[in-house]
Amino acid sequence: MKVAVTGATGFLGPGLVQGLLSQGHQVQVLTRDVARAMERLPAGVTGAVFDGRTAMGPEALAGVDAVVHLAGEPVAQRWTKDAKQRIHDSRVQGTRVLVDTMKAAGTVKRFVSTSAIGYYGGAREAQVLTEDSAPGDDFLARVCVAWEAEALRARAEAGVSTAVVRMGMVLHPDGGALHKMLPPFRMGAGGPVGSGKQYVSWIHLDDARALIQFALAHPELEGPVNATAPEPVTNAAFAHALGHALGRPSVMHVPAFMVKAALGEMSKVVLEGQRVLPARAQAAGFAFGFPELEGALKQLLG
Ligand SMILES: NC(=O)c1ccc[n+]([C@@H]2O[C@H](COP(=O)([O-])OP(=O)(O)OC[C@H]3O[C@@H](n4cnc5c(N)ncnc54)[C@H](OP(=O)(O)O)[C@@H]3O)[C@@H](O)[C@H]2O)c1
Repeated sequence: MKVAVTGATGFLGPGLVQGLLSQGHQVQVLTRDVARAMERLPAGVTGAVFDGRTAMGPEALAGVDAVVHLAGEPVAQRWTKDAKQRIHDSRVQGTRVLVDTMKAAGTVKRFVSTSAIGYYGGAREAQVLTEDSAPGDDFLARVCVAWEAEALRARAEAGVSTAVVRMGMVLHPDGGALHKMLPPFRMGAGGPVGSGKQYVSWIHLDDARALIQFALAHPELEGPVNATAPEPVTNAAFAHALGHALGRPSVMHVPAFMVKAALGEMSKVVLEGQRVLPARAQAAGFAFGFPELEGALKQLLG
């Protein structure tokens, strides 16, 4: 299969590209900077420009059978007015441009777009959330709803089998949230944040990539698919498990006001959380390599 991947240069992308190449697929990377992407990614990939704004010619997807869409402005930054606009537009407008190109190219049969568990909104406390749960109504939830709606146009307007993979907090020491948490926890200065009762729906990076590849190989799996391990934990339990994996104390409670002062509105992501279950992935037969947090952290940090 020839697979086009947007956002291939980020946190999830390089390993996914490597995995696709190892399975014998051809990979076409869609990126804002083709030369930089070619330097970062394994030999053998091809590239075309995709900036999430400018219309692309159908040749960008020439002969492409499937598209994986990872691109988007990072969410983990202070949410200034401009940053919020970039977070929204890079996903909503970016997905629109991509789907329009898929329609023009006419060869794409499978589309796997990322979304995020932010779809469910914050403040859901201990409610168990599956793909059938209603969306939330805060900034990230509204971005995810609009992002998914653009992705699902591929099915409605071009008959392309489409899955939207709602990513949880992806764990790997080299990037994402865990990378940011490690320095204080390694110093023994980590601990629960805010009430500590908010849920963390996490997924090992290997499982996140494997689930995207599983979705690519299962076109019958359409619509939303939660990409979270089957055992979400509270923030306090997460802090305890991380301290334990590092052999460090993890009792330094970080009060909510300090997180709000440091992160502004983005602090909602850390202070609220969601308890999400991967109901559809499991029903479709996806086997998590790292279903429990302790084993995942041991593998990542041991
Ligand atoms: N990592 C997580 O824990 C997590 C959690 C929930 C959801 N997700 C979602 O899953 C997807 C992949 O995650 P990731 O962590 O791999 O993402 P990432 O590393 O933050 O970014 C992926 C790529 O997006 C492109 N990009 C960045 N800013 C952009 C902008 N303003 N406009 C257009 N493209 C832009 C870049 O590719 P080029 O420079 O090559 O164009 C970048 O390498 C993202 O959409 C993310 O929101 C991730």
